Amino acid sequence: MRAKPLPFELRPLAAHDGDALLRALKQVPHDNPTFFQGLQSGMGLYDYLEWIAVRKSGTRLRAHEVPTTLLFAFFGSELIGRYSLRHRLTPALEAYAGHVGYAVLPAYRRMGVASAMLRHAADRATRELGIAELIVTCDEDNLASQAVIESCGGRFIGTYTGPWSARTKKRYRLSD
Ligand SMILES: CC(C)(COP(=O)(O)OP(=O)(O)OC[C@H]1O[C@@H](n2cnc3c(N)ncnc32)[C@H](O)[C@@H]1OP(=O)(O)O)[C@@H](O)C(=O)NCCC(=O)NCCS
Repeated sequence: MRAKPLPFELRPLAAHDGDALLRALKQVPHDNPTFFQGLQSGMGLYDYLEWIAVRKSGTRLRAHEVPTTLLFAFFGSELIGRYSLRHRLTPALEAYAGHVGYAVLPAYRRMGVASAMLRHAADRATRELGIAELIVTCDEDNLASQAVIESCGGRFIGTYTGPWSARTKKRYRLSD
């Protein structure tokens, strides 16, 4: 029988989350440096909140960037995961990156957090952005991410190997 999913809340990062951010930072594995997308050394919480707001608004984007919403998963006072939802795709993003990225801290994996985040992203994309069908991708050897996408009903549409990505990507379509 599948374990009961962890009850967690998905919400934007807020000004009162400084301690949770610091605790989570200590748990981010070295092989997942983009867990806190956009957070650079020397940045304070308010700088990071500003970066997140600017990225969502779509102002000051560089050529390859698109407006993106970042939401964080909290279990009680602990920050345990995050997802990013791109509001639109460039041809390159469509090919290798897709609409959604997600990550969960190791201590909270295999409890349904990523699947719930991906379902939330699909629902939000439909309701707020009018995107009825998401493109979701993962490295071809990322079995965990592949299982997440398939558990949410993702339909495999092929692989991408090419100049935009050093790794071969599996590509899926996902409807709300
Ligand atoms: C991939 C990742 C987000 C999965 O998060 P998670 O919260 O553990 O995933 P879930 O608990 O929702 O698992 C969903 C399904 O995947 C399966 N799964 C999870 N981890 C797995 C693993 N390591 N190997 C095989 N299957 C796995 C679960 O059993 C579950 O299957 P089920 O629905 O049939 O029960 C997490 O491992 C992670 O953060 N990895 C590093 C970052 C990353 O790879 N992000 C994805 C980039 S595309």
